[in-house]
Amino acid sequence: KEIFNSKLFEKLDKDNSIENSREWGIEIDPTSNYNDIVGFLKSWESLNTIQLEYIDSIQNCLSEVGKDVLINGSPEAKLYNILTAEGMSPADANKQFGATAFGSAKNKGWIEVKQGKIVKKAESIIDTVKQDLSGDLSKLDNKILDQYKKSRFVEEKKMSYYRVSKGEQYNKRSKELSDLTVEMLKDDSWEKENYKVNINAMGVVPEQGYRHPLNKVKNEFKQIFLDMGFEEMPTFNFVENGFWNFDALFQPQQHPARELQDTFFIKDPKTSHDFSDEYAERVKQVHSVGGYGSLGWVYDWKLEEAEKNILRTHTTAVSARMLYKLAQNGFKPKKYFSIDRVFRNETLDATHLAEFHQVEGVIADVDISLGHLIGVISEFFKRLGIDNIRFKPAFNPYTEPSMEIFGYHPMLKRWVELGNSGIFRPELLLPMGIPDNVRVAAWGLSLERPTMIKYGLDNIRAIFGNSINVNFIKNNPICMFESK
Ligand code: PHE
Repeated sequence: KEIFNSKLFEKLDKDNSIENSREWGIEIDPTSNYNDIVGFLKSWESLNTIQLEYIDSIQNCLSEVGKDVLINGSPEAKLYNILTAEGMSPADANKQFGATAFGSAKNKGWIEVKQGKIVKKAESIIDTVKQDLSGDLSKLDNKILDQYKKSRFVEEKKMSYYRVSKGEQYNKRSKELSDLTVEMLKDDSWEKENYKVNINAMGVVPEQGYRHPLNKVKNEFKQIFLDMGFEEMPTFNFVENGFWNFDALFQPQQHPARELQDTFFIKDPKTSHDFSDEYAERVKQVHSVGGYGSLGWVYDWKLEEAEKNILRTHTTAVSARMLYKLAQNGFKPKKYFSIDRVFRNETLDATHLAEFHQVEGVIADVDISLGHLIGVISEFFKRLGIDNIRFKPAFNPYTEPSMEIFGYHPMLKRWVELGNSGIFRPELLLPMGIPDNVRVAAWGLSLERPTMIKYGLDNIRAIFGNSINVNFIKNNPICMFESK
């Protein structure tokens, strides 16, 4: 840096300007990084010591082929050099060196064809093409340069640089330093130096990893749940059996969601059995003949169906496990949440993927009502910055009543569906052993949908999967929700 400083002022004192910042940088230090040079010049420009004029220019450079000529010679020279007394057939020469090599070598009088073979004619040659390309391209005759462009030895490159001249403060410049170095701190020389700190200078963007936008939004959701006193459920098992994913939730075995076209079934291991026989018996009873005041679904419940392994279709499977555990350990009021991946065998399109993330909240307490559910959900969305929500009656096999949640989107100027909610049915809670004065309210939404809305995306593939643009990951904001 010191060298650049002294060279800069030396040059400007002498010539009043530097015509090309790029060439100047290389002249002083061939290993220098041009971005550093620009940063250095800009820091003097910000003090009005120098003036910079941005120039876009087209420059002629050697192409890869041109660089090869520097090392191995032009194609016609290569052809000449390889010829032995035996000669070479024109077809071979064409194949190895291209048609123009033969033509040029012949025009230059280097070779001739004798009895169908190419042989040397000149005693020795001077490879002018190689000489031309080794020198300063800007000094070449335009016609010759055009020819080299046609032969693809030379190509045009867009190149920007700065023209540097003296600024208003040039003569008043002090030995101001723009950088505080480790050395200056160590030997206390910083106290003696006269330096100015440019607090408006932009820092260099560090090369580093970046958090995925879905993870950022996930963390925001997580923080809201934690602030509201929710505990996180362990959702690390992507494979569930039908029992916890469907049966425990009072979803009948002939329900269309349990078909191959909606659910991914696991081949190996095909089945699992991690639930107690007594509990399974109560589940069987309530499905097939009813109980707890319910008529049930009235069908022949099969254990084999419940034992089938699947990729979980919702995180409510984990909520079922947690509620069962809670009942077994002696019920206490609880608030649970989870944010994790679920899988559905869907037709893929702009808004649907076979895997996505579900955000789920569960509140279990004595005598809570639909009013509590609406209150908690309203507060949850308010903390996401969504004030205006509405509920619409819906159906869910495991909740009664069930409500879809809609939020008003000020940018889209319409109501968009945010999620689903409801109060778990007694046919689900009572077989688990949850006391009968306890109500469990729950809601679920996808993580992708609010993320897409917030980032203004209309294709889910832009945030999930292998076609994500890395720059999008790098450049998007840390925080998306104006939480209150
Ligand atoms: N599991 C539901 C879904 O997949 C969401 C939900 C959770 C609905 C809890 C009601 C209660 O959409």
